[in-house]
Amino acid sequence: MNASLPEFTAPENGELSADMLAAFDEAGVVVLRDFVSVEACHALRQRMLELVDDFDPAEVRSAFSTKTDEHQADDYFVSSGDKIRFFFESGAFDEEGNLVQSKVDSLNKAGHAMHDIDAVFDRFSRTPELAGAAKSIGFEEPAIIQSMYIFKPPRIGGEVLCHQDSTYIYTEPESCVGFWFALEDATVENGCMHFIPGAHKEPLRKRNYRDADGRIVNEIVDATPFDLDQALPAAAPAGTLVIFDGRAPHYSAPNTSDRSRHAYTLHAIDQACDYPASNWLQRSESLPLRGFES
Ligand code: FE2
Repeated sequence: MNASLPEFTAPENGELSADMLAAFDEAGVVVLRDFVSVEACHALRQRMLELVDDFDPAEVRSAFSTKTDEHQADDYFVSSGDKIRFFFESGAFDEEGNLVQSKVDSLNKAGHAMHDIDAVFDRFSRTPELAGAAKSIGFEEPAIIQSMYIFKPPRIGGEVLCHQDSTYIYTEPESCVGFWFALEDATVENGCMHFIPGAHKEPLRKRNYRDADGRIVNEIVDATPFDLDQALPAAAPAGTLVIFDGRAPHYSAPNTSDRSRHAYTLHAIDQACDYPASNWLQRSESLPLRGFES
């Protein structure tokens, strides 16, 4: 009864206290309120709105109108590891191929290298506080492997099924950690994330990789279903940082409300770990991986 995910006011220097670390180890997730200012969230949102303005949907509309052509869709996605690309919600277009809502309210996400390509995103992603947080949770040589801007638009923001991020960002040994920032208030109504506390101690369920032909496969490595009855909402006012283990199962419900739920996510891996060449996300050598130091 009244169970909730571990939640704290963000530490001043970003470094998690012993209490916070214990809670993170126990639950696989920790919610840190006011990690960044509402002004910083607003500025990042404004910058994304500029990028969206500059984005011509014609260049990707074909990818979506040929949704059954998986190779094309995959190419646009699979080669986005070192670019800034935009992905629509599946409910974004009507039968004639026109957007049902405004451009920004049609997008599912942008990814996957804003943090290395765009100066505003770079500055948001690399602060002493974030570096401190990463160090305190045990990273020796963190690398920000990807960034995602999640739009979760009103009315058509799609459901994200329960998954573990280490499925997609796999290293040996596993080292993926997610840093999720609420840029707008995330509530149960507009589709906040939910986590199953403690379930990061369970096995990884799936491995996602490219096979020898370059096709993406989702291999089930453990068929145990997630215990969704145990999931708890991570309601998060703007400025909140949610840090979660790459094994922590999480999901979000559709956004059927009239309010968007913008969020920004960074995923870090430890450079000391092996990053398989079969992972979907690959970066060109011209864009070397960097950590949280500016
Ligand atoms: Fe995820």
